[in-house]
Amino acid sequence: MTRHFLALHDFTKAELTSMLDLAADLKAKQKSGVSHKLLDGKTVALVFEKASTRTRISFEVGVFQLGGHGLFVSSGTSQMGRGEPIKDTARCMSRYCDGVMIRTFGQNIVEEFATYSDVPVINGLTDLFHPCQIMADLQTVIERKGTCAGLKYAWVGDGNNMANTWIEAAAIFGFELALACPKGYEPDASVMTWAQAAAPGKITVTTDPKIAVTAADVINTDVWASMGQEAEQKEREQAFAGYCLDDALVALAQPDCIVMHCLPAHRGEEISDSVIEGHHSVVWDEAENRLHVQKAIMATLIQ
Ligand code: CP
Ligand code: NVA
Repeated sequence: MTRHFLALHDFTKAELTSMLDLAADLKAKQKSGVSHKLLDGKTVALVFEKASTRTRISFEVGVFQLGGHGLFVSSGTSQMGRGEPIKDTARCMSRYCDGVMIRTFGQNIVEEFATYSDVPVINGLTDLFHPCQIMADLQTVIERKGTCAGLKYAWVGDGNNMANTWIEAAAIFGFELALACPKGYEPDASVMTWAQAAAPGKITVTTDPKIAVTAADVINTDVWASMGQEAEQKEREQAFAGYCLDDALVALAQPDCIVMHCLPAHRGEEISDSVIEGHHSVVWDEAENRLHVQKAIMATLIQ
């Protein structure tokens, strides 16, 4: 059966842990020059309906390091941009390629793509989820803290695709997650309902960033206006006043806390320059781990 990587909730804790173990192994091999051509001769299409720096580069480089070929496809220069149905695109692409990564808008689009694809489809970000990023984040937490279990995680900012995926991770791995989101910008209600049922009492939502970050081991934030929400930038700047992750907020967390941001960051909005450049920040390791964890995801799914 073809397995897709559309959302963390499609996988068990054991399966995700095994991908994280493989990511650590592949990272060590890459650093020491040990060959690991697990996708020898395979082609993976990388489909983008939104902008990207890290996702595009880490997938292209990752497929190459695994001995395969990554094929960049932008919606604007393919027939997708002219309205060719997703189900037609998916059926054709899966006859040429051994796997597909897609970054798009609705989660329904990646789901429809997967329904019509004979090869694994990987979610490279939708409006609802960003599962590859949270896997890279978990790899980074494990590197820094030795484990991702038993820690307190905090989210400060928009209840967006990143927040929703952290909620899924908290439910699956069973860790404590406190989110601070302004009223009207809470995480997706159906994701919350699922997570609260899967892990009762582990996930809390407040409007006060101070409550969320107090005693946290891991603090996360992200832009206030995600891709597709650019027109709301000004009203969001007002709604998110007081949500900047600055030194005063970080001082409420554990002294050895780590600060994460998936990037791109807007310094002076959701995070201060001193925090992202400061000694708690692990954002560059986090960005690097996109490469290693996505290699593990592809090597696990693509046969
Ligand atoms: N974090 C992340 O997905 O970055 P890009 O938008 O640059 O791919
Ligand atoms: N929430 C952001 C993440 C970017 C990697 C967005 O969707 O634009």
